[in-house]
Amino acid sequence: EQMPLRLTINGNVQQLSIEPRVTLLDLLREQLNLTGTKKGCDHGQCGACTVHVDGARVNSCLTLAMTTEGCTVTTIEGLTVGDPATAPLHPMQEAFIKHDGFQCGYCTPGQIMSAVACIREGHANTPEEVREYMSGNICRCGAYANIVDAIMDVKK
Ligand code: FES
Repeated sequence: EQMPLRLTINGNVQQLSIEPRVTLLDLLREQLNLTGTKKGCDHGQCGACTVHVDGARVNSCLTLAMTTEGCTVTTIEGLTVGDPATAPLHPMQEAFIKHDGFQCGYCTPGQIMSAVACIREGHANTPEEVREYMSGNICRCGAYANIVDAIMDVKK
């Protein structure tokens, strides 16, 4: 049975009809075609699916879409204003490029959403603090040191 859901995603009010068991991750990727948010483990263990709900980072694979009724969701596509194909990059995206904060890139949208939250929530005072905050975002290529460098660069 479909249920109504109203929320704001990347600045757009969405009036949707969804199955109650659908996760926020599947809603974004499959119903709204916002495929920048990645599905890695689908079990809350890799961070690839990280988005912001009312400004706080969440694993969208662990979040039932229904629980975001009335919320404001931001995905990697909404980090910058305007068309993501032509808008200037977010400073965190620029920093990941500058510091080689990725190799294959699969974990990168989740890393960047966590990285933005890391600074916003005041957990980027030392590299150790950044590592701790970012520990839920797994990178199989092992770009961790460069990711920390990128975050510290944006923080300064
Ligand atoms: Fe959500 Fe891995 S896909 S934490």
